[in-house]
Amino acid sequence: MIIMRRRSFSGIQPSGIPTIGNYFGALRHWVNMQDEYDGVYCVVDMHALTIRRSPQELAGNIRYLYALLRAVGIDPDRSTLFVQSHVPAHAQMMWLLSCYTMYGEMLRMTQFKDKSKKHPDNVNTGLFIYPVLQAADILLYDAHAVPIGADQKQHVEITRDIAERVNALYGPVFTLPEPLIPPVGGKILSLLDPTRKMDKSDPLPGAYISLDDSRAAIAQKLKRAVTDSEGSVRYDPEHKPGVSNLLGIYSLCEGITTREAEGIFSQGGYGALKDAVTEALDATLAPVREKVACYLADLPQLDALMREGAEKASAYADTVLRKLCAALGLLP
Ligand code: TYM
Repeated sequence: MIIMRRRSFSGIQPSGIPTIGNYFGALRHWVNMQDEYDGVYCVVDMHALTIRRSPQELAGNIRYLYALLRAVGIDPDRSTLFVQSHVPAHAQMMWLLSCYTMYGEMLRMTQFKDKSKKHPDNVNTGLFIYPVLQAADILLYDAHAVPIGADQKQHVEITRDIAERVNALYGPVFTLPEPLIPPVGGKILSLLDPTRKMDKSDPLPGAYISLDDSRAAIAQKLKRAVTDSEGSVRYDPEHKPGVSNLLGIYSLCEGITTREAEGIFSQGGYGALKDAVTEALDATLAPVREKVACYLADLPQLDALMREGAEKASAYADTVLRKLCAALGLLP
């Protein structure tokens, strides 16, 4: 008997070196889900064009991110790992879906509001319809589950709305996806402002820990991490967001609950907690740093993996694209 695995799809932008927020909120789950789900994971390079950066920087980021996803444990034998622009169906699907997405819906997207405030000189149409490309990514693979951090929930909800609208008009073309957000790690907070999420595009490097940070850099950033003046280590995200963030990170590295982490540090001060988080993060990230360096040392092999990934992804995406075209009345 053949048991079909449910499919999961997710993506990450090559907009800088990913942070431990990306890792604990998303990447780690992609890796852990590989046996249970047929995983399709994507470096969403076309999404990254919504913010200006040099071609050299973008090309470097795409390769780095692909190598990183291999290094954290995405296994091309169990999952499909590819670069978005290598599969033209994404751009085609986006156009078709844009005709079923309302202007008012896009205006309500919080990420559009945030990003247009951050980059007032470049509020381009791509930024505005960014969620339609994201919906295309997800719907092209009949994904049941979309493992993401909390900040992407609204984008999966709009994807469902678009899919439901098309299905209501033309019959069951699309699978409706569900967001999968981890209860701890779904929102890792900025080290300098623990009321905001940790963000790889933050202008202050001290606000985030990158996956390529050395032990010394991790230690230095954690030393400066904002806590509070109370002095006691307790897990209380509402009143003690900085300390709770550190306890959350520690518990994720060690595979224990936040309550267990709290028990370990309840007798000590913030300094001891920060030293232990440094230790735990370095132990988690050191093997990743080494593996990334190995993958980047063999670019022809990395490019071959990208090609194979794109072929696998295209075969599936083209089927769903053709299905939609036929449903809409576009001729084969
Ligand atoms: P991106 O590149 O900003 O982030 C990639 C993933 O990391 C999660 N994440 C976090 N999780 C916890 N704490 C944080 N501080 C944190 N920061 C980021 C994000 O929620 C995300 O899951 N639009 C998406 C990329 C995308 C996508 C898709 C995702 C394009 N198409 C289709 C899912 C499905 C983005 O910009 O993610």
